[in-house]
Amino acid sequence: MVKASVTVSADFVLSDIDRRIFGNFIEQMGRQVLGGIYEPGHPTADEKGFRHDVIDLVKELGVTIVRYPGGNILSGYNWKNGIGPREERPRTLCLSRFTIETHQVGTNEFIDWCKLADVEPMLAINLESEGFDSAREYVEYCNHKGGSQWSDLRIEHGYAEPHKVQVWCLGNEPDGHWQIAAHSAETYARIATETAKAIKWIDPNTQLTLAPSAARSMPYYGEWERIALEDAFDYVDFIAPHMYFKDDHKDTSEYLAWADQMNGYIKEMVAMCDAVAGKKRSQKRIMLSFDEWNIGARWPIEEKRAVPGEWPERITILEEAYTVEDALLIGGAMQALLNNADRVKVACFAQLVNCIAPIMTVDNGPAWRQTIFWPLSLASKYGHGQVLQQVVDSPSYKAKTWHDVPYLLSTVINDPKTGRTTIIAANRHLTETMDLTVLLKGLGQGRRISHTHELANDNLKAVNSADDPDNIVPGEIDVVELAGEQLTAKLKPASWNVIVIDQ
Ligand code: AHR
Repeated sequence: MVKASVTVSADFVLSDIDRRIFGNFIEQMGRQVLGGIYEPGHPTADEKGFRHDVIDLVKELGVTIVRYPGGNILSGYNWKNGIGPREERPRTLCLSRFTIETHQVGTNEFIDWCKLADVEPMLAINLESEGFDSAREYVEYCNHKGGSQWSDLRIEHGYAEPHKVQVWCLGNEPDGHWQIAAHSAETYARIATETAKAIKWIDPNTQLTLAPSAARSMPYYGEWERIALEDAFDYVDFIAPHMYFKDDHKDTSEYLAWADQMNGYIKEMVAMCDAVAGKKRSQKRIMLSFDEWNIGARWPIEEKRAVPGEWPERITILEEAYTVEDALLIGGAMQALLNNADRVKVACFAQLVNCIAPIMTVDNGPAWRQTIFWPLSLASKYGHGQVLQQVVDSPSYKAKTWHDVPYLLSTVINDPKTGRTTIIAANRHLTETMDLTVLLKGLGQGRRISHTHELANDNLKAVNSADDPDNIVPGEIDVVELAGEQLTAKLKPASWNVIVIDQ
């Protein structure tokens, strides 16, 4: 038995939770748009071709904001190809996937879909092969009320009211050699700064995300961020890291430590932003929009593309099957975001449907939930209110990717509006039950445990599938008790747990 404890107090609040932390991401690739959110003729599709069984699952997942349209496709994307009458839209080569892009779900259709799914739209701007003018025209098209060239075109396209898109991404992984027209830090910094300035002049309500190096492993990591932040600091609101957890499926303890590496990455990003703030003697704080996070695709690059020369409209790629072990890591990474809620204000799980996704579909058939659906949906369901500061006492282990990994990964959320307190607790010991004690100062008396959820399975490699979609679903925790302000629970080895306390 491994013993661990957490102490929190109702008075010691880390931060309010920005609900946009439960965001997601749709990229025009694979069966994500075609056959995912959009399948004209599907029994649940509406007159616009949107699948409502998928929309129902997006709502159940608790998604709050969705980023679109990429991702890597962005560096070859021209938003003007995705507006106006659908039958007149061009067929263009998508060089990131070797496919034909038909532009049937362009900006206005995406906005329509967001309304149906009850999510906020977040648009990404191609600052690689397109640039400054295209970006400012795009914001004018979407957000300006009317009476100008591009806003009037939107009105002509049937959208009298501005879309009021608030969060805009300034490019995507612009230092990646895999992008069309990748930038140096200096070039990116200049174009991002000047674009951001113009966007804020068009619509001061926008919030802009600045791209850091594509990954923590990139050669100019640190230096890229300094250069970009020093230039764009006054005009941007967020820095937008991406992280994909590597997985060789050999060592579960090592794998689960990626949640701690993500936590460390967040702290590094915050340090870089605040170093620039310090140098500028500024009280402004750049927040994080963690624009892409998930388990790294396990396939070689050729399998993320169509066969060269064939140029199909649709291919089946990145349809990863997620295991119980994957769900434990995704739960832990979601906690890393929540435990940094004072600086992480937006986050987009990458991605939503079919491609590296929690929601899967069968063409002309049902939609179903992967194992990773569960930690994401439970975190969103209970992630209302405030994250509390915690004092954690847990034995730990050493991993190669991260120095000190506590077996207990905990998060305590309190919602003063409803009086609900939620404890998320992962036991990362693979063989021993965890004896957990949580001291809830000012939060226990006269209340009861209303719900528990436990994600665990003897087979860490078990998955859900179209034939067996409910193979892995959360159960309840067997042993959990609240006595006054002290909660005790026995957490199974390799388990991710949620305990909810209500009045
Ligand atoms: O999510 C898959 C890809 O990973 C995205 O297109 C890109 O931004 C990242 O490299």
